Amino acid sequence: MKKHRILGAVAAAGVIALVATGCGRGGTAEPAGSDGAAEPGGQGQIVGVAMPTQQSERWIADGDNVKQQLEDMGYTVDLQYANDDIPTQVSQIENMISSGAEALIIASIDGTTLTDVLQQAGDADIPVIAYDRLINGTENVDYYTTFDNYQVGVQQATSLLTGLGVLDENGEETGETGPFNVELFAGSPDDNNATFFWNGAMDTLQPYMDEGVLEVPSGQTEFEQAAILRWLPATAQARMENLLTVIGDTQLDGVLSPYDGLSIGIISALTSGGYATDALPVITGQDAEVGSVQSIIAGEQYSTIFKDTRLLAEQAVAMVDALMHGEEPEVNDTESYDNGNKIVPSYLLESTIVTIDNYEEVLVESGYYTEDEL
Ligand code: BGC
Repeated sequence: MKKHRILGAVAAAGVIALVATGCGRGGTAEPAGSDGAAEPGGQGQIVGVAMPTQQSERWIADGDNVKQQLEDMGYTVDLQYANDDIPTQVSQIENMISSGAEALIIASIDGTTLTDVLQQAGDADIPVIAYDRLINGTENVDYYTTFDNYQVGVQQATSLLTGLGVLDENGEETGETGPFNVELFAGSPDDNNATFFWNGAMDTLQPYMDEGVLEVPSGQTEFEQAAILRWLPATAQARMENLLTVIGDTQLDGVLSPYDGLSIGIISALTSGGYATDALPVITGQDAEVGSVQSIIAGEQYSTIFKDTRLLAEQAVAMVDALMHGEEPEVNDTESYDNGNKIVPSYLLESTIVTIDNYEEVLVESGYYTEDEL
């Protein structure tokens, strides 16, 4: 690991991190690893936080949580959203570096396009944390925090199988043999996570496809065929419309969707294509965004995957704080995330399948949403 520039004096002994008691998306949970004891904290050092887009609630929640938690610890935060535009993100990161950022937290748009700007960060010994999405093709990414993305895909596929009745609520096979007609969607090919989701899902579904329990009427079972560039709902809608044309009268029983936004587009295409809202196929998702949880409650979307952005923010903030104090951040995976130049030490969090049966417990009782929001 390269030697990091540690600016600023070591925090004075006895400085206690402000641990807000508020909760919910904007709230601050206790810093990771903290048992309420004194935390070093920052002394006004600037941390640049680059987020991809405000078009999806999850990234707004991520940005809010990271900013709030860093500020509560005494850091100054430069939070920028790039409207899913790669040159914008590159110039935002350049600006962060030139305005004195001492650490960077980056959720990339395209994980392969930051090599040059991160060389500038590397040259200035500014540590870089990849946030949620791995940054590829550079030495200059020090740590990565994310959810276990392969497992997210397994969960999406598992919930599809549960919704179809192939698995029961304990994940045991029911003996149901179908055949069930399903179509498959994948995420953005420039997002490293998308293949992890896809591989987790396909490893879970493939045995059922091999046995003929699941059939894909369009025959489109390759990642390249299923991928939706930049995760755009409108692109997913257009592909679903096209699939309906391709498969004609065949009725669909399920759709593997890797993200709530895509699920919204898919549902629109299905309802315009003649499916009643109370007779939609089993449709999965990811991120537990408000509109999609409402759709689950209304019986339209079947499931989503909840990734608690409060916890992800805590990990990223804990990594920055450790680095700013010359310490090694905690990691729990040193094998899975090879970015082409190195294996990036990672901290993986667990995600949760959400359906109508557990949304209250997982999303409301945990304080992530209020009942009113849903
Ligand atoms: C994130 C997902 C999100 C997707 C679209 C992925 O990188 O891990 O949580 O649904 O991007 O924003």
